[in-house]
Amino acid sequence: MDKYIEFQHITKIFPGQKALDDVSFSVKQGEVHALLGENGAGKSTLLNILHGMFPATQGKVFIEGEEVKFRNALEAIHYGIAKVHQEINIIPELTVAQNMMLGGEPTKGPLLNRKKMEKETQELLDRLGCAFHADDRVGTLSTGKKQMIQIAKALYMNAKVISFDEPTSSLSNSEVKTLFKIIRDLKAQGITILYISHKMDEIFQICDRASILRDGKYVTTLDMKETTEEDLVQNMVGRDVSMFAQRLKPSCVDKNNTVLKVEHLSGPAGFDDISFELKKGEILGFFGLVGAMRTEVMRAIFGADKASGGTVIYNGKALPHNRTPNDVVKMGIGLVSENRKEEGFVKNFNNADNIALASLTKYVRGIFVKESLKQKNSIKVGETVGLTPNDPEFLTVSLSGGNAQKVILAKWLSTDVDVLIMDEPTKGIDIGAKAEIYKLMEEIVAAGKSIIMVSSEMTEVIGMSDRVLVMREGKLVGELDRSELEEERIITYAVGGSQG
Ligand SMILES: Nc1ncnc2c1ncn2[C@@H]1O[C@H](COP(=O)(O)OP(=O)(O)OP(=O)(O)O)[C@@H](O)[C@H]1O
Ligand SMILES: [Mg+2]
Repeated sequence: MDKYIEFQHITKIFPGQKALDDVSFSVKQGEVHALLGENGAGKSTLLNILHGMFPATQGKVFIEGEEVKFRNALEAIHYGIAKVHQEINIIPELTVAQNMMLGGEPTKGPLLNRKKMEKETQELLDRLGCAFHADDRVGTLSTGKKQMIQIAKALYMNAKVISFDEPTSSLSNSEVKTLFKIIRDLKAQGITILYISHKMDEIFQICDRASILRDGKYVTTLDMKETTEEDLVQNMVGRDVSMFAQRLKPSCVDKNNTVLKVEHLSGPAGFDDISFELKKGEILGFFGLVGAMRTEVMRAIFGADKASGGTVIYNGKALPHNRTPNDVVKMGIGLVSENRKEEGFVKNFNNADNIALASLTKYVRGIFVKESLKQKNSIKVGETVGLTPNDPEFLTVSLSGGNAQKVILAKWLSTDVDVLIMDEPTKGIDIGAKAEIYKLMEEIVAAGKSIIMVSSEMTEVIGMSDRVLVMREGKLVGELDRSELEEERIITYAVGGSQG
């Protein structure tokens, strides 16, 4: 069926913001259909309308020729339209089976037999090849496993359509492989898949067609078999973005100048004996699979978590053991955290205030913080990171996922820190803005500052780093110089194979 899902003239207006503008296209039954576009293009908004999270301002959605108007996500699920989104609520105190049945009871009758429920759940988990159990508590499971629960739940509800909004952003490589295998199986069963991602290689791996949105408008639908990456990007961005994750300037590492020296650092999270040096002007890449504990090491350096042993020496001086992030920032070290949604910004602050958070003293004149200086800075740095809308008064929490991330980046770029630790700096960020962020990183090191870049994206690790350290299960297991950076060597360290 060619018009299995049909969007007709969908417009969505948020207060002061047109998120979707007369969008019409259709999705075939049993295909994997990508939704592509830059941050803020309207992808998540369109899916939210499909799932009844909020109504469209104008326009209609048809499924199998029948108009649907779900009032909430539950109604959509009962119709067979399920979603696997990261913000979905899974209740950590409940077991896997209990979570699966949440909201599902009405179709299955009110008297739920616990044994039967666990048995059915276990069958679904087995079918998906999951290595956890129906009676496990969800709180302890990884993001990838939580996602599997959502997929199992969709199957339990006999979903006909399943949508994924950036599903791989917190998954390990092997979890991504499992997910793709499952998506292919779902497709083989005739289930229609909608898939949002900023990762081009994923789109080519699993999608049949892709519809592209730009500034809330529908651009085109392309068949992946007849499309190149350049075509996609051209349609998404409307211009060429050829130079991508590449150093455009010469390296500016000052080998004789150590800015940060970490000695035998260990922490309760389980990392142990971490020692390395960061040089002035260096971009030091930190690679590892999810669970390698790179984030935990950075948090310990930054004072966000307590280290259980070891020393951090900054410009020749040991940082106190009971350091707090506040102290560390004052000394000149910043951390752009990976969990930008939770840790990065204040909910009821606008962009200007959030961007100014880590650099307040810069805007003080006399004894007052000058609002106009904050606003100027907000616009300037907002432009550098490609923030849309680049409006100092816009509430950060109302931005699209990727744009909220850009605000946090902008916050740190406004500071005068000498060492910037960036944890997954381009996670959730669109392809056009990524290139801008890479350029910016080069400017930062050219100005004599240093960057630690924790990243799981091989292209940026290889493209941007002067040197790469590889971690596995809480230990540093490899070091590669720029001239030795090859995907295979890095992966071999990360998975623990022997170096040939
Ligand atoms: N609740 C809201 N209030 C006001 N504006 C909103 C709200 N939700 C989304 N928007 C705006 O709608 C536009 C589209 O946002 P949407 O989240 O759909 O983008 P997206 O394509 O999913 O982007 P990303 O790749 O960054 O996730 C953005 O400009 C955003 O600021
Ligand atoms: Mg989104």
